[in-house]
Amino acid sequence: MTTLQEYLKNSGVYEDLSKIILLIADQAAPIRAAFISNQSYADSTNASGEQQAAMDTWADTHITRVLAKSGLVHAVASEEQDDITTFSSSSKYSVVMDPLDGSSLISVNLCVGTIVGIYDGDVLQPGKNLKAAFYMLYGPMTTLTLSVGRGVAIFALNSDGVYQLMQDNVQIPEGNLYGSGGLRTEWLPEHAAFIADIEAAGGKNRYSGSFVADFHQVLKYGGVYAYPPTTKSPDGKLRLVFEVNPIGFLASQAGGAVSNGVSSTLAVVPARVHQRTPIYVGSRGMIAAIEKIHHA
Ligand code: F6P
Ligand code: MN
Repeated sequence: MTTLQEYLKNSGVYEDLSKIILLIADQAAPIRAAFISNQSYADSTNASGEQQAAMDTWADTHITRVLAKSGLVHAVASEEQDDITTFSSSSKYSVVMDPLDGSSLISVNLCVGTIVGIYDGDVLQPGKNLKAAFYMLYGPMTTLTLSVGRGVAIFALNSDGVYQLMQDNVQIPEGNLYGSGGLRTEWLPEHAAFIADIEAAGGKNRYSGSFVADFHQVLKYGGVYAYPPTTKSPDGKLRLVFEVNPIGFLASQAGGAVSNGVSSTLAVVPARVHQRTPIYVGSRGMIAAIEKIHHA
């Protein structure tokens, strides 16, 4: 059995970076434990104007507090906080996070997760600069899907509270699953044509409303997750810094790709921490197909 700790060591990851990854990974158990008493919505909205679930703010406060205490990071940017928080630490690492993605599914007990990216230096860097990206999924198992720039590995939390390696060198198969956000009536013609092509080729629709969970099945089975530009939201819904970059980094490390429909989002220098972007992430062929439609 290879543990997460051993994997990080064997991968030559710097000690401080490993410590940050392990520290956040350790928060899966307290986060899971908090679900039972945080089922409702809070009376607050986040910087993107979305109503926060009680678990959004709980997970955000919890992870931020743990990071502040650790002295291991100099900045944290969270989907649930208006501004970047800086700490008086000599660390060069900054953390970006969606503390609880898919939180509207908490009250129906469907799969949700925590998305994390770690940069050397400031927060507003293109996703391709990530030193590490991972997500924890709170499903039937607690899993952690990680890239430190050497492919993608999936770990599961065992009954001893240790993350054990389940799969290394994960590669996204071409596959034919697809899931798309946005109302069909608000899709733009390019996106409608893309989905029609997938459906005509026998693609299977899978969309739960939790990006991180929907991406995980694309990672394993192949296909595409999309949140396109719509007539009402030309930049789509998902956030570049907290959601799209960490997941896009993982996809590209697994031999897949991520795009805003025209080009890779991993090259985009964020102008604002909460900026949104359309996203297409998954198998290489799927991403090439939407870019071809836009370039036609
Ligand atoms: O964080 C945004 C998010 O909750 C994603 O997890 C999810 O894929 C998407 O929004 C769902 O949005 P909609 O309800 O519009 O399909
Ligand atoms: Mn989210």
